[in-house]
Amino acid sequence: MLLSEQTRKVLSISCCLICLLLFLAETRAASTCGARQFRCGNGKCITTRWVCDDADDCGDGTDELPATCQAKTCLPTEFSCGGRLSQCVPAGWRCDGKDDCENGADEQGCVAKECASDEFRCGNGNCVSKTFVCDTDDDCGDGSDEASCPKPTCTSGSFQCNNSVCVPRLWACDGDQDCADGSDEWPENCGTQAPPPKAMPCHAQEFHCGSGECIHSGWRCDRESDCVDHSDEANCSFATCRPDEFQCNDGICIPGARQCDHEYDCRDQSDEMGCTTENKCEGPGKFQCQSGECISFDNVCDRRRDCRDWSDEPIKECGTNECLVNNGGCSHGCNDLKIGYKCLCPAGYRLVDNKRCEDIDECADPDTCSQICINLVGGYKCDCEEGYQLDPKTKECKAISGAIPYLFFTNRHEVRKMTLDKREYTHLIPRLKNVVALDMDMPSKKIFWSDLSQKKIYSALVDTAGNSSLHSTVIGTQLAAPEGLAVDWVHGNIYWTDSLYQTISVATTDGTKRKTIIKQGLQKPRSIVVDPEHNFMYWTDWGNVAKIEKSGLNGAGRQALVSDNILWPNGITLDMVSQRLYWVDSKLHTLSSIHVDGRDRHTLIVSEHMLAHPLSLTVFEEKVFWTDVSTHAILSANRLTGNDITKLADGLTSPEDILLYHNLKQPAGKNWCQENNFVNGGCEFLCLPAPYINEHSPKYTCACPDHLTLGPDMRSCVPASEIAEHSKTTRRPPKVTSKPARRQPATSTTTSTTTTTLARTTPLGVPVDQDKNKTDQNATKLRVSSQGGSSDGYVAVASTPQHPTALYIVLPIVIICLAAFGAVLLRRHWRMKNTNTIHFDNPVYQKTTEDELHICRSHSQDGYTYPSRQMVSLEEDMA
Ligand SMILES: *[C@@H]1O[C@H](CO)[C@@H](O)[C@H](O)[C@H]1NC(C)=O
Ligand SMILES: *[C@@H]1O[C@H](CO)[C@@H](O)[C@H](O)[C@H]1NC(C)=O
Ligand SMILES: *[C@@H]1O[C@H](CO)[C@@H](O)[C@H](O)[C@H]1NC(C)=O
Ligand SMILES: *[C@@H]1O[C@H](CO)[C@@H](O)[C@H](O)[C@H]1NC(C)=O
Ligand SMILES: *[C@@H]1O[C@H](CO)[C@@H](O)[C@H](O)[C@H]1NC(C)=O
Repeated sequence: MLLSEQTRKVLSISCCLICLLLFLAETRAASTCGARQFRCGNGKCITTRWVCDDADDCGDGTDELPATCQAKTCLPTEFSCGGRLSQCVPAGWRCDGKDDCENGADEQGCVAKECASDEFRCGNGNCVSKTFVCDTDDDCGDGSDEASCPKPTCTSGSFQCNNSVCVPRLWACDGDQDCADGSDEWPENCGTQAPPPKAMPCHAQEFHCGSGECIHSGWRCDRESDCVDHSDEANCSFATCRPDEFQCNDGICIPGARQCDHEYDCRDQSDEMGCTTENKCEGPGKFQCQSGECISFDNVCDRRRDCRDWSDEPIKECGTNECLVNNGGCSHGCNDLKIGYKCLCPAGYRLVDNKRCEDIDECADPDTCSQICINLVGGYKCDCEEGYQLDPKTKECKAISGAIPYLFFTNRHEVRKMTLDKREYTHLIPRLKNVVALDMDMPSKKIFWSDLSQKKIYSALVDTAGNSSLHSTVIGTQLAAPEGLAVDWVHGNIYWTDSLYQTISVATTDGTKRKTIIKQGLQKPRSIVVDPEHNFMYWTDWGNVAKIEKSGLNGAGRQALVSDNILWPNGITLDMVSQRLYWVDSKLHTLSSIHVDGRDRHTLIVSEHMLAHPLSLTVFEEKVFWTDVSTHAILSANRLTGNDITKLADGLTSPEDILLYHNLKQPAGKNWCQENNFVNGGCEFLCLPAPYINEHSPKYTCACPDHLTLGPDMRSCVPASEIAEHSKTTRRPPKVTSKPARRQPATSTTTSTTTTTLARTTPLGVPVDQDKNKTDQNATKLRVSSQGGSSDGYVAVASTPQHPTALYIVLPIVIICLAAFGAVLLRRHWRMKNTNTIHFDNPVYQKTTEDELHICRSHSQDGYTYPSRQMVSLEEDMA
């Protein structure tokens, strides 16, 4: 008794103490600013990042006072710009070729960059690959690499083009023009040897460009060059329009009655231009009478009738200053006019209902800030995500780490590497045949590319990519036109499009396991990009109905994202930070962006010159970079405004894919297929990440090679016919195991919210242990039949930090019991299990039937062993 009273006393005292401490802490917080905050003269607290940024954030200007700025000290990891504002920038930004301090102090007194041993020092200080010297391209930018060139002599294994460039002899007379002047295919050099047929035959409804591509036949003679060599506009005779027709600005004739019918009939919409002829009476010097005329404002209130109805001379309003009474009812400014008055708003506000000023939400426009936008009353502030900092000069987010971003791009025979300021410009992989698509696994420094001539996908480590004997073939068979390529750096898979097979496929980065994940509804898939954080992929299709589509990385949840106002979407890229997609359209000559969920579509640039024939693009920080095969150039622009269009490199042969290399481009993510030492997620073949649609979404699903299908346990692979038989004999009402019904136990029998959370965190999104009511046999049965073995591998992840500690002890035991019970039931019943939830990707083989069957025959017997990686050399491939 005594003891318990003592305990009570101790308890109450400590309780009081805690209360007191909390109270003190609260009052302290109210009167002082936090550690990383600045206290304004008016008592307001603002983050220290906003001090001395040339914007009055306190409201009284105390954060921008010279004395405040002088007192500002930079961290040891920062460089002080000095000057008026004493700005601090990360030390890595010093001498990186770009002004970051407002006064440019970070780029002063920098020593010239050292060129590596295999680089040539240009007259302007740039470093370029020694092999670029005397290759007839001005790679330095000042011509110094081409200044003193002897006529080169080619080695025995090389062919000398008429313009004296050397190409491998194997490339001569192979039906592809490899010399810039095409001299490797001239009859005088090839003799009677007939060149092999063209690699890419065109479909019947397509036009075959002289330069090799296939384009929609409707694009021939449409007064716009679509072929690289402009052959689609050669020999065109344009009909002049009949007298009863209207000629669109692009030359097309449409029936005359279609002009100004409030519908667009011309592709350039010129038939609806200039249709409204109502006289506009706008501008400060004009006054619109109520009777309709437009008179000069000078004639208003001059005691003379200028409007027919005298509406310019209202006796009451002329000579009255309405603003004197109650400020005219305006919330802010009031401006008296000759007739009436007008309310005015300060900057950052807009007028609503003609009287009241309302704060503009600048952040509603996703392009206001490059990353984070904070709306303030009367303005806004931009901020940056982790790893980035606001650049004082450009006011854009710039990566803090000193790591230099590089651009990698394909140029038909090469993969080149360039710094954004072109101070370093080298080639990474030389002597390729026709490299088109490119992507990287940046964390492991591996580069992947597809070669359209060889019809293969290769990979190499970036550091040794120049040595062709160290290239591995990732995919060497069953490729026709791999034009788009994307690497999932988290789960270790590659995705590619094939415009001839009209498929999208996935394979592990070593190429050993592969599957066609999308084969229906594709016409000319081209560019593809993946988001392994939310597990989505996005691709462009420039078929007759052009579109941008998205689906999960396992092919689930496919939907069209953009399908109107799009014709030739050649390239697509994703800004992971803002979750916005950017794409280029070569027919509309536009660069556009859209949020990944389909809202806020913007067209940033429309330019026939700058986007003549763009093929690919990439974004980083506030910039977008793209390749243009028509102007043979790489260009960049601000990705928010579309301004500052700059040419980074030109004189390229055929720049196609482009990527930006920086560690922030591919942030680390969680690979659920390898969580808890669970090998490959328990999948027999591929473990593919599933899209994050909501918190109940599975983390991954298993997938099988094209000739097999998932077994009843949804993990192993069985021949498709076996499953078909199976489902025939054991069909049950779909209600029991169809997808929504699967979740039924979670919603109908769950009794506590804790367990719901549990269900959410299981990798497959299937309720493993949502009810502790063991007597509920139905739920148990459901669980077993739908889950197919909730093995212990999942149990460990089925917990979240919010749970009371008791749950940590009780739950695992219950879960293990249930899992074991489930496993027993499963083993006994799996054969009888209802299988009608399995989605049959029934192999309706199209024109590729024979090839695919071939795969089945050669590799199906012993478990899908594709030829493992092999060393390649060009000679071997050509042989
Ligand atoms: C080949 O090169 C020579 C010298 O550069 C040039 O005069 C000639 O016109 C070229 N031939 C063709 C067919 O372009
Ligand atoms: C254009 O006409 C010329 C001469 O008739 C012919 O050689 C050429 O192939 C034609 N080009 C196209 C694209 O039809
Ligand atoms: C390329 O790699 C191979 C194998 O490691 C090596 O033998 C060869 O010397 C390398 N070639 C060059 C040019 O570095
Ligand atoms: C368990 O199930 C039985 C019958 O299905 C039900 O009567 C009982 O309320 C359930 N208990 C809990 C805790 O859900
Ligand atoms: C269990 O299932 C049977 C038939 O499948 C049904 O009649 C019964 O009502 C179910 N019981 C519960 C508690 O859901």
